[in-house]
Amino acid sequence: TTTRPRISFLGCGYLGATYAICFAELGYEVVGFDVDAAKIESFNTGVLPMHEPGLPELLKKNLESGRLRFTTDVQAVADFADVHFICVGTPQRKGEHGADLSYIETAVVNLSKHLSRKVLIVGKSTVPVGTAQWVQELVDRHAPEGLGVEVGWSPEFLQESNAMHDVLRPNRIVYASQSEWASQLLKDVHRGILELAAVEDREVPVVETDLATAELVKVAANAFLATKISFINAMADLSEAAGADVVDLARAIGYDQRIGNRFLRAGIGFGGGCLPKDIRALSARAGELGVGESFRFLDEVDSVNTRRRTHTVRAVADLAGRTSGPNGPDLSGVRIAYLGATFKPDTDDIRDSPALDIARRLRSARADVVVYDPEGLENAKAYAPELSFVKTLAEAVADADVVCAMVPWEEFRTLDPEALGRQVAERRILDGMNAFDPEQWRKHGWSYQGIGR
Ligand code: UDX
Repeated sequence: TTTRPRISFLGCGYLGATYAICFAELGYEVVGFDVDAAKIESFNTGVLPMHEPGLPELLKKNLESGRLRFTTDVQAVADFADVHFICVGTPQRKGEHGADLSYIETAVVNLSKHLSRKVLIVGKSTVPVGTAQWVQELVDRHAPEGLGVEVGWSPEFLQESNAMHDVLRPNRIVYASQSEWASQLLKDVHRGILELAAVEDREVPVVETDLATAELVKVAANAFLATKISFINAMADLSEAAGADVVDLARAIGYDQRIGNRFLRAGIGFGGGCLPKDIRALSARAGELGVGESFRFLDEVDSVNTRRRTHTVRAVADLAGRTSGPNGPDLSGVRIAYLGATFKPDTDDIRDSPALDIARRLRSARADVVVYDPEGLENAKAYAPELSFVKTLAEAVADADVVCAMVPWEEFRTLDPEALGRQVAERRILDGMNAFDPEQWRKHGWSYQGIGR
């Protein structure tokens, strides 16, 4: 019989919830902890309080298995688990570029005070390098004396909308510990993933390293991905200026396996709860450690990314035949069918969503912006009440002067130019997803504008 440590996940956002559910699926006994009682109640009654494909079914199944439960009772969590994963948020600090670690502090201190035996606390949240040491100090200060509680680190790489797959079938496992005991425990914790891989005849590489490296791996990966996207967006600007097509360009360079074809989609820029804040936090931390100069390019990656937004507003104005004055374009009287509000498809997450920010900018330019999104309407409405929201695609496009297709949801990528053309007032489309074949749309009488083509 293999050892299966009992596991807790502290913080039940996209990260912690997905992990808790998936580890129960892998056969571990799991408890998820959060301070939000309504959220915990929702999980326990089998209702996933966010949109994430595949996860609702898995939640129900594993609640029934008896291996999974959720609680707000930290004492119960402390008594139950051998390994505690910290999965709370590390948002950007207000008005600064560094990360706010207060949720980590609260979770760790609260847990430590309730412990009564030696356990392993493992950080998963994305953090500035050096945080693990600080967490160990917090534990030493707040756990009962003599328990010898240890801290380890294990970054995660899950992508929202693909979260379940990324946790059950990761392309690598990375962890760090400070002792043989902890290393063995981490091996036991990840055994389920390796066993599943073996059954499916896959291999999952394991990188065991030191705490600082484990912390850095996550931000390094995200900074690299962000750089790739800003690189192709810079090439989009150049392509527009030179009369080239960035979509063909990306395809052509992507065949070189050293470059790879993923994360080379030019468009309205990256958003979400990770990439934007992670590059800022990395640059800020590098500065603190005296190597800021080497990371100035990341500030440029950030600037290229946010410039997509003014650029896109200008592209919409051009399409509508409005010229820009010194304060930007005046779009009064222009009705825009705005398709997409989330930061990417297949999620209801609107954190740092470029699409939503651009919609607000168009509204500030006095356009009549009618937003439709398959899953993000509730969140978007709360964040940007000045916009109009409709529940169907048909309502959004009715009598539109310009269609802005911004987030590559399946429902938008499969739009038919002729059918859509019959519903709008003017056949003008801004393809912020670069998902359409321009020739095809032009053939049906559309003024087509992509990004960088
Ligand atoms: C990211 C990382 O991919 C993941 O490994 C990490 O664990 C968390 O952060 P996520 O925030 O879910 O995941 O989104 P991701 O799929 O990476 O997309 C980020 C943003 O980049 C989105 O706004 C997306 O639209 C944009 N993007 C992505 C592009 O603009 N072009 C691309 O080619 C790819």
